[in-house]
Amino acid sequence: MKRLTLVLVAAAALFLSHAQAQRVNLLCSPDLAWCEALGPAFTEATGIPLEFIRVSSQDALARIRAESANPVFDVWFGGTGDPHLIAMRDGVAEMYIPSTWDDIIPELKSVINEEYIPLYAGAIGFVINEEALGDLPLPRSWRDLTDPMYRGLIAMPDPTSSGTAYTTLATLLQVFGEEDGWELVEGIHMNVAQYTSSGSAPGQLAGRGEVAIAIQFMHDGVKFAAQGFPLTVFAPEEGVGYEIGGISLIANAPNRDAAIAFIEWALTPEAQAIAGELGDSYQIQSNMNTVQHPLAPNFDEINLIEYDFDRWGDPAVRDQVLTRWLNDVFAIPR
Ligand code: F6P
Repeated sequence: MKRLTLVLVAAAALFLSHAQAQRVNLLCSPDLAWCEALGPAFTEATGIPLEFIRVSSQDALARIRAESANPVFDVWFGGTGDPHLIAMRDGVAEMYIPSTWDDIIPELKSVINEEYIPLYAGAIGFVINEEALGDLPLPRSWRDLTDPMYRGLIAMPDPTSSGTAYTTLATLLQVFGEEDGWELVEGIHMNVAQYTSSGSAPGQLAGRGEVAIAIQFMHDGVKFAAQGFPLTVFAPEEGVGYEIGGISLIANAPNRDAAIAFIEWALTPEAQAIAGELGDSYQIQSNMNTVQHPLAPNFDEINLIEYDFDRWGDPAVRDQVLTRWLNDVFAIPR
């Protein structure tokens, strides 16, 4: 009898721990509507509940690093690739090879040296409200943005919180080289009316006419234009950097099995199609079997730079860039 009780207690404990494991705590970095749609669709497909918070890419990395001794989150979904790479290199995220690995677009895997799982791709660009520009000419190049006539007319995200902004800084430093690049970043800073904490917010400000020029991912601008805002979206003539958004398993995730179930599901064509079906997120989805949304960018038509993911995903480089931006650029009164 005593042995039977022990067996039952052990079985109950096992069941309880299994049940407790069956949930996913998600750190989600794309736009809110996409994050909100994931839980119900995943739970319907698997029966596993999911909770999320939406946090911009750089803030998400800071959070995962800070909690690494006792992780709260299981999966980091979306957000720009550089911080995913840094999370892998720091050991706070763990590489997991999904069963769909061979279906992921090969170029997306090779340019990041297969160091994390690609979830989507998108390119930086200008999102412009020509009505708000008034009589001013349309800026066509990065250099144009430093012209004093655009003073107070630009919004861009803050690179200390937003992955979009970090991709923008990395773009400028790659296109113009370190010296000219930083000079250009300063010149643009003098014209910035507002730094937003999330990457997509500048397009909303431009859409409402609060500024005329937003620097952000073009797919975010395309979304706001599709919603009816008077926005023109294009890549400046010197070329643009791009993101390979990631999906990463948090190292020592408290619900590892459920986390893996989520990653497996999130990379299926059906799950990836949700973003476009919502009319919310038009990135290129990473699974080559996903039906891409007609508004997703066509990388063959965009002047993309050869973005050096290895360098910009280096934790030391990131620290240097953010420190320099905070001390030498953001500190300049405007
Ligand atoms: O809005 C979606 C998106 O542009 C993603 O493509 C990108 O990974 C993410 O936002 C970056 O957000 P943030 O700049 O706030 O980190």
